[in-house]
Amino acid sequence: MEYTFAMLKPGVLQRRLAGEIIARIEKKGLQIHACKMMQVSEELAREHYKEHVGKPFFNDLVTYITSGPVIAFIIGGDDAVAVLRKLCGATRVEDALPGTIRGDFAEHTGKNIIHASDSIESAKREIALFFTEHDFIDWKDNNDEWI
Ligand code: RTP
Ligand code: MG
Repeated sequence: MEYTFAMLKPGVLQRRLAGEIIARIEKKGLQIHACKMMQVSEELAREHYKEHVGKPFFNDLVTYITSGPVIAFIIGGDDAVAVLRKLCGATRVEDALPGTIRGDFAEHTGKNIIHASDSIESAKREIALFFTEHDFIDWKDNNDEWI
């Protein structure tokens, strides 16, 4: 079992897309272990995206991610990091294939509607930023053998 961090970005709730995106994650067989609706502070946004400090899009990224409520998740599964990145699709929306979350629902790279950790190390760092160990709920699914 591997864990990753996901976040439905601002606009997803306004567009009533949260259920559809969560359904895709569930149907793939990935498992939700924590879920939190929240407003990201500027401080948390800067820390979360600190690898991008100094890049031309950084300020717009912080403005966007703090512009409305998000839903954050800990997602588990075999190869969860890579599998969830595949479900999300490419960063640049013009490269995001139909059938992926970004390919189907995002028109602009700066508003690409979902975040997913890009490595196991990033996942550990991001999970610790957004959640405490008490937020994590381990649960067994009796359908596991079918997935
Ligand atoms: P994320 O971290 O949000 O899941 O996205 P990502 O890994 O696919 O892409 P990353 O390189 O981490 O970039 C973070 C976010 O910055 C915006 N971005 N804009 N204009 C650009 O060239 C550009 N590059 C990145 C995107 O909103 C991207 O999700
Ligand atoms: Mg990233």
